[in-house]
Amino acid sequence: MATYNLPRGTRDILPPESTMVRLIESRARDIFTLYGYKEIITPVFEQTELFTRSIGENTDIVQKEMYTFRDRKGRLLALRPEGTAPVIRAYIEHSLFNGSPTTRLFYLGPMFRYEKPQTGRQREFFQIGAECIGSSSPFSDTEIILLALDLLKAFGLEDFCLQVNSVGCKRCRPEYSKRMKDALKPEEKNLCSACRQRLQRSPLRVLDCKIDRERIRSLPPISEYLCEECRSHFRELTRILKSSGVTFQLNPYLVRGLDYYTRTAFEIVSELLGSQNALAAGGRYDLLVQELGGPDMPATGFALGMERVLHSLKKKKLRSEGEKREDCFIASLGSKARERAFLLLGELRGRGISGIMDYGDKSLKSQMRQANKYGVLYSLIIGEDELKRGIVILRDMKSSQQEEISLQSIIDELYKKIRD
Ligand code: HAM
Repeated sequence: MATYNLPRGTRDILPPESTMVRLIESRARDIFTLYGYKEIITPVFEQTELFTRSIGENTDIVQKEMYTFRDRKGRLLALRPEGTAPVIRAYIEHSLFNGSPTTRLFYLGPMFRYEKPQTGRQREFFQIGAECIGSSSPFSDTEIILLALDLLKAFGLEDFCLQVNSVGCKRCRPEYSKRMKDALKPEEKNLCSACRQRLQRSPLRVLDCKIDRERIRSLPPISEYLCEECRSHFRELTRILKSSGVTFQLNPYLVRGLDYYTRTAFEIVSELLGSQNALAAGGRYDLLVQELGGPDMPATGFALGMERVLHSLKKKKLRSEGEKREDCFIASLGSKARERAFLLLGELRGRGISGIMDYGDKSLKSQMRQANKYGVLYSLIIGEDELKRGIVILRDMKSSQQEEISLQSIIDELYKKIRD
């Protein structure tokens, strides 16, 4: 018999982890509401060109990580590798810029990149992200950073560090790229093969290389090449971050793997994560809306990786909090009692009391063992004798106290105990 396995780089999320995922999502929604962000849901696939144009022809994502395919009519489509481009596509397509001057949107969902799987890096992964479109103020960059930090805190994480940088704009960045190219050219043959390619196509990405780190750190940082506007924007950002009580590190070598960024770039990294250490990342992208055919609208945003959050949360308190226990277990003895118990379970659920039972012919002892395992608050016991007398035995699982209650009033009684 053939057996089937997960596609490489994907995973099943089983209980209780799936409960944790929902809890994280629900906490995220609460925080987004506090900040005035509204949810946007876009398709999982888009025209490939949307990503090529926005993320950049020469990036790793576009060069080798996209899941592209043709549909039956020959259209070239791609599973989304990230959420920003689709959000901006929708923003333009539905003329959301005609509403309030600043549009604040958030999204949750799967993204797809054909990367080499390892801890914290998958081919299907889940992002929670937000985009703030319409403001060029460093206050909006700070808003996005505070939002990302508040989300991570709401998930129960503490051990992370915010790193910020400015990657300049289309006026000042070319000069820096040229400077880098000139400085590294004489040593080109000593660079790793990936960096040799990057040097030709997008020299700034060389800064991101872990292999050539030492050599790169001897180059002047981009901050020395920023134009006056970018410099003052970055100065303001760091000032507002400080006055908001945010601690951060300046990382002059921080660049992003997507081409659309201008000025602010940031990452929130965690030591707990090993080599894939970015929990969240984002920045400003003032040219993207126009680049994709919309009006001249500055924007900033971020996304965090659910798998990396879950990984850092392992063994932390959110796990037990996340597991919601059923309110009761019904143990029954005999086929008639089982049927009555089944109907009672339906009635209980109708009143919002969650419950569970076993449909086999198990002994009372074995059923009580199950009730203990589920960790329910109460067990109801119905045998043939109880059925004849029109009663059930209600057992408080914590105190082991038992009482007889009439079948007619059990729902109200249990409701009072659990919900009042
Ligand atoms: P990104 O840095 O490519 O940015 O991804 C953001 C986060 O998604 C990463 O920090 C990481 O936590 C998670 N992530 C990325 N790739 C993987 C993977 N293969 N497996 C697991 N987790 C992963 C963006 O996607 C931008 N759209 C963020 C943004 C929004 N910038 C402005 N607005």
